[in-house]
Amino acid sequence: MKDEIVVITGANSGIGKAAAIKFAAEGYTVIMACRNLELSRETQKEIIAVSNNDQVKLMELDTASFASIRTFCSAFKSQYDKLDILIHNAAYMNHGEKYRLSPDNIELTFATNVFGPYLITTLLLDDLKKSKNPRILHACSNIIKHFFDPKRKIDFDQLQGQKKDSKRHSVYKNYCASKMALLMVTFKMADVYQNDGVKVNALQINGAKMSKATLRKVKPHWRIIARIQNLYFPSPSVMAQHYFDICTSDKFETITGKLIDHKQKMMQQPPSHNPNVITQIKQITGSKVYPAYAANPEIQEKLWELCNSLTNKNMVTPSSEQHA
Ligand SMILES: NC(=O)c1ccc[n+]([C@@H]2O[C@H](COP(=O)([O-])OP(=O)(O)OC[C@H]3O[C@@H](n4cnc5c(N)ncnc54)[C@H](OP(=O)(O)O)[C@@H]3O)[C@@H](O)[C@H]2O)c1
Repeated sequence: MKDEIVVITGANSGIGKAAAIKFAAEGYTVIMACRNLELSRETQKEIIAVSNNDQVKLMELDTASFASIRTFCSAFKSQYDKLDILIHNAAYMNHGEKYRLSPDNIELTFATNVFGPYLITTLLLDDLKKSKNPRILHACSNIIKHFFDPKRKIDFDQLQGQKKDSKRHSVYKNYCASKMALLMVTFKMADVYQNDGVKVNALQINGAKMSKATLRKVKPHWRIIARIQNLYFPSPSVMAQHYFDICTSDKFETITGKLIDHKQKMMQQPPSHNPNVITQIKQITGSKVYPAYAANPEIQEKLWELCNSLTNKNMVTPSSEQHA
């Protein structure tokens, strides 16, 4: 057994589950941070059996709820005296048109995929600082390529509260924007935590087979697309291996503030000059560069301040759901 502890959010399914198996098989203490304990217990048993490691623990965490996050972090602190690796894997991606709010009155995609992870990291920072080699990994997505379109922006006016206009809401678009925001938080966080020795990186996931349970959650037309993608996407264990390597290998020991692709190559900011059409096509189809929007310091700062203010302010009781 190793002395290292890893927290993986959403470890009951897909890539998170495959990562929990990998870390457990390598002798880590694995905390499966999941919102549905009843469903996740079976997965926990399965992971213990296949990894032959009984240090696979299940703790309740809803990354969309600040109250749940605070309870989880307090429970973690009362049981463990440090944290070595924090993997923000959980995500809300039920594509459709329903505009939904989190218990804290925040648009659900951003609450689950951006502000929740930010708060978890903030609350566990002291525990990470006690590790010899603390690493944080954010599960990003190649869906951010939509931001190569200069018209694409994060809609800061519609990240909290009731929907302000009658425009059709697209969860797909918001999922895309939330993954861009998570990448921007990665860059800013790496900078802010530099002196604490905490490394913060993001993996650009370009596809992994979706489980039957996940397929059932997405809207019917997306389900058809996902089933077709499942024919050629690699198994979740391929991405799980990347999670493991980025969070444990010497190769990434000093790396921070990077977006890493599915070949474990560091992606770059595109050159500032206007690219010609061929270069643009290469940027969109390849994985060498990410959209320039991600590196915009003003937007990074605006997002960082919003992360701070939303997670610090007193919580408002929201109405539960609203349809666009
Ligand atoms: N699969 C792909 O092709 C692909 C491509 C790009 C990026 N990604 C990213 O990779 C990560 C893993 O995706 P996956 O394909 O493995 O999907 P998945 O099998 O659906 O796993 C997502 C996990 O997140 C959990 N989750 C969702 N909302 C949560 C919340 N509020 N609190 C706690 N847990 C929550 C789910 O729990 P429940 O079981 O309770 O719902 C599930 O365990 C995600 O960040 C996703 O955006 C995946």
